[in-house]
Amino acid sequence: MKVLVVGSGGREHALCWALAESPLCTALYCAPGNAGIAREATCVPVAADDVDGLVTFARSEGIGFVVVGPEAPLVLGLVDRLEAAGIAAFGPGAAAAVLEGSKGFTKALCDRAGIPTARYARFDRLDAAEAHLAEVRLPVVVKADGLAAGKGVTIADSRDAARRAVADALVGDRFGAAGRTVIVEEFLDGEEASVFALVDGRDCLLLATAQDHKRAHDGDTGPNTGGMGAYSPAPVMTPALCERVMDTILRPTVAAMTADGRPYKGVLYAGLMLVPGPDGPSPYLLEYNVRFGDPECQVLLPRLRSDLLPALMAARDGVLGSFDLRWSSDAALCVVMAAEGYPGPYRKGSVIDGVEAAERETGATVFHAGTRRGEDGALLADGGRVLGVTACGHSIADAQATVYAAVDRIRWAGGFCRRDIGWRALKADGTPAGARTD
Ligand code: AMP
Ligand code: GLY
Repeated sequence: MKVLVVGSGGREHALCWALAESPLCTALYCAPGNAGIAREATCVPVAADDVDGLVTFARSEGIGFVVVGPEAPLVLGLVDRLEAAGIAAFGPGAAAAVLEGSKGFTKALCDRAGIPTARYARFDRLDAAEAHLAEVRLPVVVKADGLAAGKGVTIADSRDAARRAVADALVGDRFGAAGRTVIVEEFLDGEEASVFALVDGRDCLLLATAQDHKRAHDGDTGPNTGGMGAYSPAPVMTPALCERVMDTILRPTVAAMTADGRPYKGVLYAGLMLVPGPDGPSPYLLEYNVRFGDPECQVLLPRLRSDLLPALMAARDGVLGSFDLRWSSDAALCVVMAAEGYPGPYRKGSVIDGVEAAERETGATVFHAGTRRGEDGALLADGGRVLGVTACGHSIADAQATVYAAVDRIRWAGGFCRRDIGWRALKADGTPAGARTD
């Protein structure tokens, strides 16, 4: 079967790396891909949000299965268009991708289904939002309703800051159409973790857990980013807590989506806050994403011992009920190397040396996020997040040691990375990760 992966980041490199191993995959393509993905797949110059171009390519190339990486083409209805053209595709259609595309939709669904989440109110008029802000407890969280490239959330410590965030979105047009509606919600205090599951419209199969580091600098300081590193499993997510997330959050969501006439298929990524209580932490849903996380995907897939492709096909075909996956009890950790300046303005085109040697000498795997080859074959930085250096180990500490040994062999004058990825897990416990969690 010919397989096409859509996207160009580290997540898509990890997907290609796993799918290339499948005996079912006779040819692998990636649109548009990057210099690292070109090791595993044939890269095709079609943009990830060019729905017409992707359908035309898949049809003309006889693609049997499409795996969509990022949220934008899912929300645009790429899977609906492919399926209508007779091409099987992994991911939700546009009607179900609204779980990520509209925070207000998801909050209303949580209300209907009794799913634990922060209390909230939804506004599209400034006067009503301001009246509400005069009353709320601080800090308070203001969110643009739609897709805002990870920049749509403000945690406001003062009423003034909250008013500014609401006004920027509703009347300042800061997020365009995505900010014409805002959610104002209660601040939840606790530890964050993510849970990933495959969903086939009816059944839900837990994949694994992860935690990421969103801030740019060590000690979780500096501006928010798409993610500077991640590890899996998340030590806080005990098997009992995972089961509770399945029972109180994921399965009720899948049932509510079906009841709403929008059966969900694909991967469901639940961003959770674990709020401490007398009986231990309680999981609350912060948000859904309708895709794998980036860089979370880079730490999930190296732990998967089964073939990824039949699992994604089972989700698409609606036969996950009889499906099982094997996971390594090892931990995996990924450190993102980014261009100086990221997440602000950064330069493209600086030369990166030593990637292959770092992989060979340490056993780490370097997933490429924003790279391209220069005319002389040199590896060049071509994005904000550029490399995801990843390794497995018996514990998070072992995986971390291998990753930083590899990072230190990569010579890239224009790049930086955090030196403390995994700190929270290492502080929590030094015993082997697999002994405790998923
Ligand atoms: P979201 O896009 O909804 O996941 O929000 C981005 C980040 O904002 C989350 O990863 C949390 O760190 C933070 N956040 C969102 N909602 C809340 C909340 N209700 N309470 C505390 N932190 C939140
Ligand atoms: N790493 C966060 C995300 O993929 O949304």
